Amino acid sequence: MAIRVVRTVSALRRAVIRWRGRGERIALVPTMGALHEGHLALVRAGRRRARRLIVSIFVNPAQFTPHEDLASYPRSLKADLDALADMKVDLAWAPTAALMYPRGFATRIVPQGPATAGLEDKFRPHFFSGVATVVAKLLIQCAPDFAMFGDKDYQQLKVVTRMAKDLDLPVKIVPVATVRERDGLALSSRNSYLSPDERAAAPTLYRVLTDCAGRIARGELLARVLDEGAAAIERSGFALDYLEARHAETLAPIGSLKEGPIRLLVAARIGKTRLIDNIAV
Ligand code: PAF
Repeated sequence: MAIRVVRTVSALRRAVIRWRGRGERIALVPTMGALHEGHLALVRAGRRRARRLIVSIFVNPAQFTPHEDLASYPRSLKADLDALADMKVDLAWAPTAALMYPRGFATRIVPQGPATAGLEDKFRPHFFSGVATVVAKLLIQCAPDFAMFGDKDYQQLKVVTRMAKDLDLPVKIVPVATVRERDGLALSSRNSYLSPDERAAAPTLYRVLTDCAGRIARGELLARVLDEGAAAIERSGFALDYLEARHAETLAPIGSLKEGPIRLLVAARIGKTRLIDNIAV
């Protein structure tokens, strides 16, 4: 069934007010389009939580810096709508950049805490303020009871969870497990940039994460495990941005399993593509 595409805040509000008036709960899946199975897992998780489901599709210029891939970021609205056609999505919220950031727009949310953990923020300094600003707008526009975010962007998940709490937004941020290819590569819209050779090397990230997690869980020294993991990633052709063990909730640096639950996080570049991934220990 063709999915209803909404392009104005007033039409969106009318739908949301109608649903809320009937006591129907709403789930939001925020996306930048280029939908893959990972997004569809968010959609299914949203469906399980709420009677009404909104998928937003908006490539957010505020979270890209000038040298990043905003211009080349895959855009495929028609294919995205086709992918959602049989998923019982009530509407696709597809605003333009001019609608989201009209002339004179002058407000930005600048998150701290997990947004300044020295992971993605170190390499993409404006990223989380762009994400927090657009997600706050989407949450206010769609007024969902639940908003679904993938574990794959783990720091983003923590930033958005903190922001919703700090701003008293009446929404539950729901984490959804990363979807992987059979060889372990985490699904990402940016995987489409990989050449065949790069694609063949890409599963190294997940292999190293699982190897490191196993060794840390067995009590091996964290620093040595991470050093060896970093070397393995670089040997496979990646330039490593970071491979870190952090406290799974606060993202603070952590020295051993005794200090709390550990999340291993990695970011690395191969060719023109930057990939991230993470797993629990
Ligand atoms: O994870 C993403 O796709 C984006 O960062 C999000 C949450 C849709 C905000 O633009």
